[in-house]
Amino acid sequence: MRDLISIKDLSKKEIGQILSDSAKMERLLKKGGSNALKGKLVANLFFEPSTRTNLSFQAAAMRLGAGCMVFNHGNSSAAKGESLADTIRVVDGYADAIVMRHPEAGSTRLAAEFASHPVINAGDGGNEHPTQTLIDLYTIKKLRGKIAGLSVCLAGDLKHARAQRSLLYALAMFGAEVVLYSPPGLEMEQSVLSEIRERFNCRPKISSSLSLMGIDVLYATRIQKERFASAEEAQRMQKQFRVEPRLLSGAKRSLIIMQPLPRTSEIPTQLDSDPRAKYFEQAKNGVPVRMAVLSFCMRGK
Ligand code: NCD
Repeated sequence: MRDLISIKDLSKKEIGQILSDSAKMERLLKKGGSNALKGKLVANLFFEPSTRTNLSFQAAAMRLGAGCMVFNHGNSSAAKGESLADTIRVVDGYADAIVMRHPEAGSTRLAAEFASHPVINAGDGGNEHPTQTLIDLYTIKKLRGKIAGLSVCLAGDLKHARAQRSLLYALAMFGAEVVLYSPPGLEMEQSVLSEIRERFNCRPKISSSLSLMGIDVLYATRIQKERFASAEEAQRMQKQFRVEPRLLSGAKRSLIIMQPLPRTSEIPTQLDSDPRAKYFEQAKNGVPVRMAVLSFCMRGK
């Protein structure tokens, strides 16, 4: 049994294993899934809104024959003031694994201390989103055949988007060439840049404008308005970041455009019909990858 709180909890070899298991799960899904987790129960604890992560974890559990209980913050006792520690201790007595999303960075690590069953981080504030990163790596490998040496542009709200932070770490680990673009004020945190430089000798190129020339993967995220102190500031930033369709004219034909979704205005819907737009395919990969994650974390001793 294993918790999955940070992408840093996994070695390169373990990530490789999860990605190849995901491919097996994708084949299994074509036959309707399996009963590998029959008799097990997964609890989805979402203290923040979610569509894909919540539903794809439910689908993944059910496709493996497990049951899934869903908790929504609004109608739970957390709304009455119950502490996270108490909620976790109780749910740990009902379920065999806990998938948790919470607005506070570090909350899933804390939850893991109170749970005897595996805790899987489905997003903790602006900190990390490791299972999204596994989906992203799987999608890149599937569509481009490799990760090392690819030129990957991470664009958007690099300061607050947990999907970007976890992905940057993994891209550095796998030897991608990274370009970072954000509106001024939404840069990737220096501590993250120092860490990937020290651990992997990865030195992203910081770009002051968005260009797709020579880029293999564009990974965009929305401005994370819920993490801003002021709604006006978020709106102002939102106006400054848009992947203009004209940028695609100078881009490679083999470019892939990814976005963990939801999108707002940064990816105009005109891009959807471009064969390079892969975000819906990326979202679909959520089920086989999360099947592999559940199997990895819930595997018996
Ligand atoms: C992301 C998240 O929640 O961090 N969504 C997701 O899980 N697919 C990205 C976002 O909200 O922008």
